[in-house]
Amino acid sequence: MNNISPSGNELSQKFREINEIGIYLHIPFCTGICPYCPYNKEIFREDSSHKYVNAVIKEIDSYVPLIKNIPVTSFYIGGGTPTTMLTKGIESIINHIYRRLNMKCLVHMESHPDHLTAENLKIIESIGVKYLSIGVEAFQDHHLKTLERPYTVREVMNTIEKAVSRNFDCVNIDLIFDLPGQTESEVEQAGLEIAKLGVHQAATYPLFRFSYTRLGNQFNKRRNEIFTAFHRRKFLQILEEILYGSGYYRSSVWAFTKNGVDKYCSVTVPLYLGFGASGSSYLRDIFYVNTFNVSEYIKSINDGKSPVSLSINLSEQMQMAGWLYWRIYETRFRKSDFLKRFNICFDEKYGSLMEILNRVGYLKNGNDQINLTDKGAYWLHAFEDFFSIDYINKLWGTSIQNPRPGEVVLTTV
Ligand SMILES: C[S@@+](CC[C@H](N)C(=O)[O-])C[C@H]1O[C@@H](n2cnc3c(N)ncnc32)[C@H](O)[C@@H]1O
Ligand code: SF4
Repeated sequence: MNNISPSGNELSQKFREINEIGIYLHIPFCTGICPYCPYNKEIFREDSSHKYVNAVIKEIDSYVPLIKNIPVTSFYIGGGTPTTMLTKGIESIINHIYRRLNMKCLVHMESHPDHLTAENLKIIESIGVKYLSIGVEAFQDHHLKTLERPYTVREVMNTIEKAVSRNFDCVNIDLIFDLPGQTESEVEQAGLEIAKLGVHQAATYPLFRFSYTRLGNQFNKRRNEIFTAFHRRKFLQILEEILYGSGYYRSSVWAFTKNGVDKYCSVTVPLYLGFGASGSSYLRDIFYVNTFNVSEYIKSINDGKSPVSLSINLSEQMQMAGWLYWRIYETRFRKSDFLKRFNICFDEKYGSLMEILNRVGYLKNGNDQINLTDKGAYWLHAFEDFFSIDYINKLWGTSIQNPRPGEVVLTTV
């Protein structure tokens, strides 16, 4: 990736060919820093949050003449911790977005359990959030301690109950498994609690060990890779068994959603714009990322300069590989959507590979629809992760250390 920002003309040309778009808003603030977390964040400070709100609003305005009336069909607010900015300016950003863009969707937003008082839950609903995610992470106090989460299991269960009893379309909880020393019965207990609490969705990630985080640094990632992959498969099978038996279906490799509920997820449409520090945008044949550094982001915007720090032009082969990556993540897709997007017959391009995967039981290859099996969803994604975790380590790790890296070479090591 290099440091060339797309010009206004280039962007204007791309937007002319786009008929729906998603937006992602990054809130890079947290009240504490967790030792395993790879995301771009810093400790919340009221003065920088004010400046941040103004900068984000200016960034949105810079896109308004380009986006014009294109329907925005997906809106996701992630972080960091978006709820650090409740009553501290997030409302102004959301209102601005709904005033200036052609919004055709409701808000999906991440939250920290400690911020979900009854009063804050009311505020969250009032600003248009219909899909709420809570970073619960574990159902045993000793694991919460390892993760340095500032609450107990009893407290977080109370919070979940309060959130579920309100009027959200979907309350998702994040759970991390494969924690240091975690046993199968602890994972089983977590699965049973999720079902009992009646949350609409659980996103259950294994603990990814990013080398630039404090906890990730303690592990030699490659040493036990095969063992780790089988171990995680076993944990995930335990969760599958409990959640399938309690009326949930698999809505992505790691997520289980209650039947009949609209799933909570990040941006759901292929093309998206990212606002804020580290916001990333994908517009068909270009992918670009804003500077991760909050002060540099604010300064660039206020100086009338582009906040983009890295970009890459994508060949058609890379776009197709990216398309397939995300469809595998979602565990189901239609071949006709590939044809619509690339004007190439899916079976001509990937037909023989799909047949092999069908024979080994990784997917069901229908006339138009492809559904991954549980085994396929896990192993195909584990294979993708083998490469993508290295990319993320390199891209995010470098961008966190250097506000304007100049160039990042993305090769696996
Ligand atoms: C931005 S945080 C969620 C909101 C809020 N900041 C919090 O921590 O409660 C996104 C989620 O990513 C997941 N996550 C973060 N670091 C992870 C890691 N190293 N491995 C697996 N999941 C991780 C956690 O489940 C976390 O809830
Ligand atoms: S896990 Fe959440 S609260 Fe912890 S540092 Fe990351 S974004 Fe912040």
